[in-house]
Amino acid sequence: MNIRTVSTTPFPDQKPGTSGLRKSVTVFQQPHYLENFVQSIFDALEGYQDQTLVLGGDGRYYNRQAIQTILKMAAANGVGRMLVGRGGILSTPAASAVIRQYQAFGGIILSASHNPGGPDGDFGIKYNITNGGPAPEKVTEAIYDRSKVINSYKILDVADINLDKLAVLRIGDMTVEVIDPVEPYARLMESLFDFAKIRQLLQSGFRMCMDSLHAVTGPYAVNIFEQRLGAPKGTVQNGVPLEDFGGGHPDPNLVYAHDLVEVLYGDNAPDFGAASDGDGDRNMILGRKFFVTPSDSLAILTANAHLVPGYKNGIAGVARSMPTSEAVDRVAEKLGIECYETPTGWKFFGNLLDAGKATLCGEESFGTGSNHVREKDGLWAVLFWLNILAVKGESVEQIVRDHWKTYGRNFYSRHDYEEVDSQRANELMTRLRNSFNELQGKQFGNYQVKYADDFSYTDPVDSSVSKNQGIRIGFTDGSRIVFRLSGTGTKGATLRVYLESYEPDASKHDIETQTALKDLINIAEEIAQIRKFTERETPTVIT
Ligand code: G6P
Ligand code: ZN
Repeated sequence: MNIRTVSTTPFPDQKPGTSGLRKSVTVFQQPHYLENFVQSIFDALEGYQDQTLVLGGDGRYYNRQAIQTILKMAAANGVGRMLVGRGGILSTPAASAVIRQYQAFGGIILSASHNPGGPDGDFGIKYNITNGGPAPEKVTEAIYDRSKVINSYKILDVADINLDKLAVLRIGDMTVEVIDPVEPYARLMESLFDFAKIRQLLQSGFRMCMDSLHAVTGPYAVNIFEQRLGAPKGTVQNGVPLEDFGGGHPDPNLVYAHDLVEVLYGDNAPDFGAASDGDGDRNMILGRKFFVTPSDSLAILTANAHLVPGYKNGIAGVARSMPTSEAVDRVAEKLGIECYETPTGWKFFGNLLDAGKATLCGEESFGTGSNHVREKDGLWAVLFWLNILAVKGESVEQIVRDHWKTYGRNFYSRHDYEEVDSQRANELMTRLRNSFNELQGKQFGNYQVKYADDFSYTDPVDSSVSKNQGIRIGFTDGSRIVFRLSGTGTKGATLRVYLESYEPDASKHDIETQTALKDLINIAEEIAQIRKFTERETPTVIT
């Protein structure tokens, strides 16, 4: 066995963001770049030697090369066994499920999620811990610290392995098991949802369309919807994963999932539509000519969880990220369960799920999930909706409208300003931070500021504190404007402006969202001078 120790020098930019290290492919292709980060992971971990790790990715460009490199480095660093998805594939939620089912020590997931792929696109890598969830900040900090001083890495000199055949292989002293990436995940779904009822629904004239956007959920969706649930062939569109996602932007929102939007808003539209992102953890839910905001989706899943076998005994609590609308808070209140507000980033839900404090979690950024894994889970959300639809026998729109009638409607929208100059974006945020005192109590038309602060979170389980998680401006009527800089972008800065207002009166629930939020949109501009600092007249994406 030939273990090579290669000298290297640190890269200064290997600080993991909201969800791992994400950079353009060309950055990752620099000699030693990937290797430095992988070695930093091993150096920062304790006790992984002779243990099992899970490895897989969303199949984007550079996935296969990276997997071969990581396998050789894992063998050189003393990993006992590596479970790899066939073809190097594992959706992010499936990777989480596999880590948990095999009681692995942890896993390495290769993905840049919803960012475009291909030679000019993005690539990413992150480490997940034993519970199947993203490493908490103290681990990612330790990895980053290590990356700043690294001077060598270890790699085994061996040939590449065949990733395309299920097999148990050896490289050096390490066992490599190439496993079916779909089967363990599909079985987990069958244990949570009423597949018989959903099958009946799908065979009773109810029509659905699932758009996998040429990303990782293709094989999962074909297996689950078309094979296990008997939906007609062709139910899954764009179902063949491509290294560059067919040149698209694999992000399930109204802008990037336009094929699906056309189908659901076209003539003869089906009853239900859904899409997922590059690595399969996000979801978008559509009814016929009807869009469900992710914040509402979380609230509706929570209100109807008792209809779904996996959650029929009730849920312990819910959690949402701070910028997510407060719609779910109202459901939690009615159910008499706790609702936790966390910073953006799925990793913050991990402790709450592990401690049994929360069962369902969700974010405005098209993420929903539960304690079945420790990642958000796109297809899980689709199945949850189908299960509710099958039990209730109502349309998506009817379910959402009834929900608003019961709880009131939280009008909600996010305005993104992408690829803006980082310095100017930071200036905008600094200016806002310096204006908290002056904003306090200030009147803007009908709106009066109740509080202005920078969100800080104290984890109720381990008491760790995360500061500067987004600027909140709350008004006396419960409306909110939140300003944050994205932690997942790779080019310049992305300013996110989250707008929310509450309307209890059902006769006003039909107002178009941007119209309902018009005053708040203007106040956001007045307070933050968005146009001036971003040098953009309008947002790049509105969700
Ligand atoms: C990823 C994370 C989510 C997060 C989203 C947006 O999908 O897993 O937890 O909400 O990115 O993050 P950003 O920092 O770009 O707003
Ligand atoms: Zn994702």
